[in-house]
Amino acid sequence: TPPPDDDQAAGIGVIGGSGFYSLLADAREVKVDTPYGPPSDVVSVGTVAGRTVAFLPRHGRDHAFPPHRINYRANLWALRSLGVRQILAPCAVGSLRRDLPPGSVVVPDQLVDRTSGRVQTYFDSGALHAQFADPYCADGRAAAVRAATATGTAATDGGTMVVVEGPRFSTRAESRWFAAAGWSLVNMTGHPEAVLARELAMCYTSLALVTDFDAGIDAAESVAQEEVFAVFARNIERLRGIVLEAVALLPEQRRCRCATALDGLYIPFDLP
Ligand code: ADE
Repeated sequence: TPPPDDDQAAGIGVIGGSGFYSLLADAREVKVDTPYGPPSDVVSVGTVAGRTVAFLPRHGRDHAFPPHRINYRANLWALRSLGVRQILAPCAVGSLRRDLPPGSVVVPDQLVDRTSGRVQTYFDSGALHAQFADPYCADGRAAAVRAATATGTAATDGGTMVVVEGPRFSTRAESRWFAAAGWSLVNMTGHPEAVLARELAMCYTSLALVTDFDAGIDAAESVAQEEVFAVFARNIERLRGIVLEAVALLPEQRRCRCATALDGLYIPFDLP
C-alpha cells in the first residue's frame, strides 16, 4: 500500500468512449493484468502538460466490448495500479432535453443506475458501503467545465445521467419517463465505472458529448447507431481538446473528498 501522502498525489487516467480510441501522440503501451482479469486493452502512458496520463479505450481499440461486456473492475484496477488517482471519462450520450442538441458537451453532477446484472463493487465481504451521494469529483468537474470554456465550448455544468443496461436503446416510454423525471442524459457505460472509481478512492469526472436526441424527445425517429458514431466522429477533435486542457487544469495535489473516501473503512485487500 502506498504511503498516505503519495495517495494525494495524482496521476491522471482517461477512459475513452465510443469513437475515442487514442489520445496521446508519444506514448508507451503497457499491458496490465489484474485480479479481475485483463482490462479492455493495453494502456497508453504518456505526458501531457507535464502530467503523466494513462489512456484506456473503454470498449477496446477495435470496440470488442459492448457496454454490458466491459470488465469495469479490471479497467479501474489497472489504471489505479499504474498510479492513476484522477479519471476523466469522456462518453457519448443521448439527450433527454431539447435544449441539449447533438454536439452539446455536459459535465453531469448526478447519475441514476438503470443497469442490471453488472458487477458493481470490489467490496464482496464485510460491512463496506461507499458514500456515493455525489458520484463525481467536485474539483474534476470544475476543471472539465473550465477546460471546455478555455477551448471554446460552453459546456453545461451539471445534469443527471441515467445509465441503461443496453445494448439496445430505450423505448419511447422509457425515454419519456426519464425526461419527465428531470434527467438530462442517457448513456450505457457511466455505471458502474463511477462507483468503482470511488471504491478505489479515485476522482472520477464524466465528460458527456451529446450524439443524439433520445427516442422520447425525437418524435419522428428512433436513435440509430450510425448517427451516434457519426456525431461522435465529427466532435472528437473538440472533445480531445477539452480532455487535454482538463488534464492541465486538474489539481496536482488532491484536496477533494474522493481522496479520503475510504477513510474509516476496513478494506480487506491491498489497493493496487
Ligand atoms: N449513447 C449515445 N446515445 C445514447 C442513447 N440515446 N441511449 C443510450 N446510450 C447512448
